Amino acid sequence: MCGIVGYVGKKEASPVLIHGLSKLEYRGYDSAGVAIIEDNLLKVTKCKGRLANLEAKLNENPIHGAVGIGHTRWATHGEPSDLNSHPHSNEDETISVVHNGIIENYLQLREWLSAKGYKFMSETDTEVIPHLVDYYYKGNLEEAVMKAITKMEGSYAIGVVSTHEPGKLVAVRKDSPLIVGLGKDEFFIASDIPAILNYTRDIYLLNDKEFVVINEDGIKLLTEDGDEIKKDVFHVTWNADAAEKGGYEHFMIKEIHEQPKAIKDTMTSRIVLGKPIALDKITITKEQLANIDRVYIVACGTAYHAGIVGKYAIEKLARIPVEVDIASEFRYRNPIMNEKTLMIVVSQSGETADTLAALREAKKYGARVLAITNVVGSSVSREADDVLYTWAGPEIAVASTKAYTTQLIAMYILALYFADCKGTLSTDEIESIKAEMLKLPEKCEEVLKHKEVLQKFASKNFMHKDMFFLGRGLDYAVAMEGSLKLKEISYIHSEAYAAGELKHGTIALIEKGTVVIALATQEELFEKMLSNVKEVKTRGANVLAFAFEGNETVEKTVDSALYIPKTAEILAPVLSVVPLQLLAYYIAVQKGCDVDKPRNLAKSVTVE
Ligand code: F6R
Repeated sequence: MCGIVGYVGKKEASPVLIHGLSKLEYRGYDSAGVAIIEDNLLKVTKCKGRLANLEAKLNENPIHGAVGIGHTRWATHGEPSDLNSHPHSNEDETISVVHNGIIENYLQLREWLSAKGYKFMSETDTEVIPHLVDYYYKGNLEEAVMKAITKMEGSYAIGVVSTHEPGKLVAVRKDSPLIVGLGKDEFFIASDIPAILNYTRDIYLLNDKEFVVINEDGIKLLTEDGDEIKKDVFHVTWNADAAEKGGYEHFMIKEIHEQPKAIKDTMTSRIVLGKPIALDKITITKEQLANIDRVYIVACGTAYHAGIVGKYAIEKLARIPVEVDIASEFRYRNPIMNEKTLMIVVSQSGETADTLAALREAKKYGARVLAITNVVGSSVSREADDVLYTWAGPEIAVASTKAYTTQLIAMYILALYFADCKGTLSTDEIESIKAEMLKLPEKCEEVLKHKEVLQKFASKNFMHKDMFFLGRGLDYAVAMEGSLKLKEISYIHSEAYAAGELKHGTIALIEKGTVVIALATQEELFEKMLSNVKEVKTRGANVLAFAFEGNETVEKTVDSALYIPKTAEILAPVLSVVPLQLLAYYIAVQKGCDVDKPRNLAKSVTVE
């Protein structure tokens, strides 16, 4: 996710901005840049790649000035490139902007501004902002920014400097983080506290649509109507390390808590009630879809588990047969593929060697490849015919959490799009699933509140050597992901089983005290699932069950239960996986494991 810093003071801005950006590197980025006012001129240096590249450029051609803004970019609109990097400026280079977030109506704004003669250089959504500010500038920068934001839909934290008022920095936020640092005769803005901790521990926490205006006279906080606001100063007592994790102990738990936002972002502008599903730049047509007779979903690990949910969703909603394959197996089994095949590859990093190899194999046979990935400009995104991005933001913990839930959302979006194209669902049916999807972020927040049951269960059971995860239908798919989470971060052996299959052999392993996690969200299979749970209970298992609210009868059969808010059954995995992620996390913490960097694992597996 992008990082922003800004400085107004007496020091050279350049090293302050670079230091601040280096403290935001943990957020993930693919390019970086600064804009500094030097002798009333705007000097911008930016480039693709690591911060070290930017530093080298600045060492070669230093910029001297005490007012500036800096940015690390995590690409969403447009490839990582020098041109798409921030800051972005207006045509005569008098106004420069850094931005974190997504301007949802940027295409309309681009058209509107182009009709007024504004020229665009990049593919970014951000570039509309300096042009909007330019359009509204009538001698007062904050007034121009205030007018500009009335045109903007979406999320933003922005920092703006201008040669018209060279000592000034204006910043505002909505649904993206932004803090203000208060030093002695110097002020800062930043996406996160670590960026400024070297200089000050006193900060203002901005709320949505609150403005900060900094110049040589000091600092002002304003409402969107220009009225002055007073705010309490927040004194930071944490160290920089804790601050990077937003106060959470590990990146994994932070990322688990980021899921409501990640889910919401991934649906943004694609799922809108009363409007057809929008698939970004995906070009697959109704006619081409009618010609597709087979879909393969190919991926590894967690992404493979998202693929299994995708199979259920596409088959149920769009009635297209789907096979799901582990990427490392796929190409060695001589799969049947031709131009009537659609391959969906799923990869958070977009760099997984096995997944890339499968993609290339499919292309050799003339199959069309659609990628679901989280990284703009990754190898998978460049080599696939079509890309649907998950907008989870960078995932830093090795164990995948928010990438999985956003991959599920991407799968539902595709399934609904296919269903619409093929006419397998009525408009009302599609609208009702969309309405349920839009409620998922809020329901996910609800699930995140029920930690105590899981913490208690973890502290009683963390010493076990084996655990079982049982489910039927979609619950089985989620059970696989829950089991993988537990294995990889707590090193406890676990197996996910289709609950009805257990009695065909594996039930021999159940004895007094064996821990069984049972998922029971699928209404049609509920009674059958309860029978399977009874089978393990009577053999002495200690069962923790997850079911929808309203199904409290499950308590008669199990030892402990946790309820998740009711949603459409097909969407249940988005909610039911969250307690499984939390359970794995709490068990790993109890065991003292290195949660964010489990042994033997890497975040991106670039070898076959
Ligand atoms: C598990 C995990 C891995 C990845 C797998 C694929 O938590 O993170 O199983 O899901 O290595 O990685 P991507 O999605 O980057 O292709």
